Formats: sequence, structure tokens, C-alpha cells
Amino acid sequence: MTVKHRTQVGIVGAGPAGLLLSHLLALGGVDSIVIETRSRAYCEARQRAGMLESTTVELLRAVGLGRRLDAEGLEHNGIYLQFAGERHHVNFRKLTGGRRWVTIYAQTEIVKDLIRARTADRAALEFEVSETEVADLDSDRPVLRYTDSAGQRHEVTCDAIAGCDGFHGICRPAIPRGGLRLVAERSYPYGWLGILAKAPPSTDEVIYCRHEDGFALHSMRTPEVGRLYLQVPADEDITTWPDDRIWDELQRRLAVPGWELQTGPILEKGITPMRSFVATPMQYRRMYLAGDAAHIVPPTGAKGLNLAVADVATLATALIRLLRDGEPALADAYSEHCLERVWRATHLAWWMTAMMHVVPGQDPFESALQLAQLRNLVTSHAAATMLAENYTGYAPLRYDPSTRTAPTPLWPWVA
Ligand code: FAD
Ligand code: PHB
Repeated sequence: MTVKHRTQVGIVGAGPAGLLLSHLLALGGVDSIVIETRSRAYCEARQRAGMLESTTVELLRAVGLGRRLDAEGLEHNGIYLQFAGERHHVNFRKLTGGRRWVTIYAQTEIVKDLIRARTADRAALEFEVSETEVADLDSDRPVLRYTDSAGQRHEVTCDAIAGCDGFHGICRPAIPRGGLRLVAERSYPYGWLGILAKAPPSTDEVIYCRHEDGFALHSMRTPEVGRLYLQVPADEDITTWPDDRIWDELQRRLAVPGWELQTGPILEKGITPMRSFVATPMQYRRMYLAGDAAHIVPPTGAKGLNLAVADVATLATALIRLLRDGEPALADAYSEHCLERVWRATHLAWWMTAMMHVVPGQDPFESALQLAQLRNLVTSHAAATMLAENYTGYAPLRYDPSTRTAPTPLWPWVA
């Protein structure tokens, strides 16, 4: 027997996009259900992004999710760019006239804060579901079907569906033939081997390093835990990278005179493939795609999570206007409003990726161009300002706080 329900927005996926969307909708008095295939523990532990734009931080604060972020997030003025054995600081705060900066606060922590807030709010949030389906997409009452963790089948009639189910989700492929006008894709011949290590960061701000043997990045999670990455071939076998080899390679690529890399036990390691992908438009009638379900960027510009936040800020406002106030204009323009930022971020990520990664046997012309661009960034105020503006965020988010009906803070431990 299938249990039938009704809600306003059916959200597929409890990553940052789906959870934040449900939170913002609730603030505007719009009901939703979030369904997720993985367990809560898995979602809260999945290591991914860590670098937040100031626009993202400001939104999270404004909607009652700033307390732990402010206490534990590491605010950085800028980044280091390293090449030809030299390390240069690029001060984004100064370059943007004190308006913008960046913050290290792990995606895992944002997901934990959101799950706690949604759970305290008694939101409909179901983990470990299976056989998710979306149907009736050509009607104004699309349907979401799933089987819950106890094996019960559910059918939820919705006014709108939000596909927040990541790159491998089911929502984008459910769009009927011809519903997507452009699917632009680029894959790269390399990936990032990422580690989480119980080793205090050996740097105060994140280091992006171009080395003749490949890219390296030194980031962090807390004052005790480092997050570091190495460029490796796309098809690399992780078992060929024992811990000592990883530390030796990081030490070699990141070396500058008089600097020492602190090492420690590796808590986790994995290889992330690199891909650019944009599906256009990001909506089909009453189904809206947000975050990685609609677009993927290589992590070099730290944009994936920030774009997911920007999408759902736009979508929440549009859906509240549509479903609560009966005004369809913002919902109709959702894709157009998101894609400008998506393509700007896609360009930044592609450009930084191309400038920083070195492939074996690379054409010396290519190498000289990479070095010329990096030199320009650390010597030209105009070039550095362009990087600062693009890296720290773009135009303000399209979130309209006047759509809120619920007061904040509702969640005293995160507010
Ligand atoms: P996701 O976080 O992917 O969430 C989608 C959710 O949907 C998942 O929980 C998934 O289990 C669920 N789901 C999928 N299918 C279904 C279904 N059929 N039914 C129900 N639920 C479903 N970005 C950076 O900026 N820096 C980084 O270092 C970085 N590292 C990354 C490493 C990896 C391995 C990956 C995959 C991404 C990384 N990213 C990084 C990108 C960033 O983490 C993503 O952009 C961000 O997670 C997007 O959030 P999202 O909510 O759109 O998607
Ligand atoms: C991270 O902290 O995981 C991180 C930082 C910057 C990036 C990518 C990842 O560009």
C-alpha cells in the first residue's frame, strides 16, 4: 500500500542545497519535505568543500545559522599563490576595499547545523529512502515517490519539486527529451587526491601552488586539522599513495626556503575527479534544479558549495512568491537569474584550473603562459582585484529577506 501525502515543495537530496532550501522556505511559511538516500551520519561526515564566500557567510548569519560558524569558522583575508618556488599573498580584503573576505568552515559543519535546525523545527526530513521517482512533470502538481527506511512506499503530490540531488541524482535525467537546451561539459585529465590530517596547518591562509610536477593546495579545517590536496592523474589508483608518499609529495611541491610542512596521521583520503558541467535551463515547468544537480565546477575556484547556496537563495525567494503570494515572475526567471553567476563561476574555476595544473610533457608554451598569468596576478593591482572580486563572491544573492514571516533566531545553538 502506498501512503499519499501533500506538500508545497518536494525536495530531493539533503546536501547543502536541499537542506538550506527547506530552511529558507520554512522562514517564508512554505512547507516542504526533504528526502535523502544516505543516512544522516553519512551526510554529516562526507568530506567536501570548506571555503565560503563572504556572501554565503552573510546569508547563513542572516537566517539564524551563524552562531557556530562565527565561533569556529576561520576568517581569512585572502590566499597565497605559489609558483616558481615563490609564495605571494593576495589580500582580498584590501583589494575589495574591506568589503569581502573568505571563511574556512567545512561543508560537513554547515550540513550538521542545517540538519539540527530542520530537526528542531520538526521539518519533514527523511534519510535512507530508496526508489526515488519524480513524475507528472508536465502538470502543475508534480509527484514525488519514494520508499522510506522501513520499506513503506510514499507518494507526495507537490506544487513544485526541487532537484537538489547532486550530479548523479534522478531529477535532471527525468526531464523529458528536449527539456534541456544546452548541456555543456568539460572533463580534465587529472583529479585531486585530498587528505584530512590530524596535523596543525602550516599556514595561516590557504596556499594554491603551481609546481612543475603538478598542483598542490594547503587548506585546513580547524587549528588542529589540515586539509591538503595533490594533483594526480584522473585514473590514479589511491592504493599507490601510502601516507608517506603523500606527505613527501606535498612537502616537495609546497616547499619554499625556510618553511616546514607539519605532518601527522591521515584521517581520510580520496580522489575527486575534475569536471565542468552546466545544464540549461535549470528548470522544467514546476521542477527546479539547484546546486550540483544543475552544474559542477572543478574545485580550484572553491565555487561548488557557494553556487549551491546562491541557487537556493534565489529559488526560495521565487517559490515563496509563487506558492504563497501567487506571483510567478521570479519562478519563471529562476534559471536565467542563476545562470549569470553559474557561468561567471564556471569561467573562474576553468581559468584557475588551467593556470595552476601541469600535465606530464606539457608544451613549454603552455607553461610560460601559466607563469605569465600568475606573475601578472601578483604584480598588477588590476589583475589581483579581478581575482579578489571573483573569488570572494559576485553581486549580492537574490534572496529577499522581506519574504520571511517566521522570526529568527529559531535555533538558539546555531543562531
Ligand atoms: P550534494 O552535496 O551532492 O547533495 C546531493 C544529495 O542528494 C546527496 O546527499 C545525495 O546523497 C542525495 N541524492 C542523490 N540522489 C538521490 C535520490 N535519488 N534520492 C534522494 N537523495 C538523493 N566544492 C568546493 O568548493 N571545494 C571542494 O573542495 C569540493 N570538494 C568536493 C569533493 C567531492 C568528492 C565532491 C563530489 C564535491 C566537492 N565539491 C567541492 C563540490 C561541493 O561539495 C558541491 O558543490 C556541494 O556539495 C553541492 O551541494 P548540493 O547540495 O548541490 O549537492
Ligand atoms: C578546501 O578547504 O577544501 C578547499 C579550499 C579551496 C579550494 C578547494 C577546497 O579551492
